Amino acid sequence: MPNPFFKHDVLSMKDFSREELELLFLTSDKISEMKFKDRVSLGEGRIQGIMFFEPSTRTRLSFESAMASIGGTSIGFSETKTTSLEKGESFADTVRVVEANTDIIAMRHPMEGSARFASDVSSKPVISGGAGTEEHPTQGMLDLYTIQKEKGRIDGLRIGIVGDLKYGRTVYSLIYGLSKFDVNVDLVSPPTLKVRKEATLGLEKIRGSNNTIEIKEHEELKPLLPELDVIYMTRIQKERFPDEQEFEKVRGSYYIDAEDSKIMKRDAIVMHPLPRVDEIRPAFDNMPQARYFKQMQYGRTVRAALLSLILNP
Ligand code: CP
Repeated sequence: MPNPFFKHDVLSMKDFSREELELLFLTSDKISEMKFKDRVSLGEGRIQGIMFFEPSTRTRLSFESAMASIGGTSIGFSETKTTSLEKGESFADTVRVVEANTDIIAMRHPMEGSARFASDVSSKPVISGGAGTEEHPTQGMLDLYTIQKEKGRIDGLRIGIVGDLKYGRTVYSLIYGLSKFDVNVDLVSPPTLKVRKEATLGLEKIRGSNNTIEIKEHEELKPLLPELDVIYMTRIQKERFPDEQEFEKVRGSYYIDAEDSKIMKRDAIVMHPLPRVDEIRPAFDNMPQARYFKQMQYGRTVRAALLSLILNP
């Protein structure tokens, strides 16, 4: 297959077919097996622009680390106080400055549509590292890669997605990605944090969707635990609630503790995009189903593969 990622933006999981995602996974496997001296030619002399307008630990560090791992470098900012945005420069002009000094841009912004806007301004490829509550496509990619690696397949699995399904942007990228596979998805949330209908309506219109995804909604988690192959926990996104009182009503709605390990399938996996607050108790970290730290480590590999595919024909 010709490289479909070359010079392309990464704005939504909707834009990638199953075959393209499988190419990314294969490239991730190859990169993780390559010695550094062989990997450096993939990014040598290339510069990644980092534009992070919102806090991040994993995504920003793994983009920077991924670029370094293929021989490239990264420049940019992770807070606006040190930029000319403080002097009134526009977002569009800021994108133009980063575009002029780099080969590829990785960005995070609190507003929906921000990454797409940046991609319209920039002639260099733009990768979204999260745009408001809309999507976090590279998280979706590494989430699917984690399932593939840890379960050996994605087709045929029963996957529970739990917590803040309204504001959690990783949920949307994951659902759009899963829609290209043959899976059963159980969405578990309080009534006020149900997934936005845009995620489940019109899945058939998503590129490469094979329409065999089956989605059910639930309010209780514990009865489902013995049935699930993958349990994807998410944090209640306090910062996105318009009203603190509304957050307090749903705070701590779901959690997994060490004793829940006993009622789960022995070969189930528990994932979380992280950061976690209290939805996975630290005591669970040593349980055989815990995979969230491994999932986080796969982020560097998948982002290195993505950067190398975008930068090289
Ligand atoms: N998973 C994720 O996006 O983490 P950060 O917010 O730390 O980047």
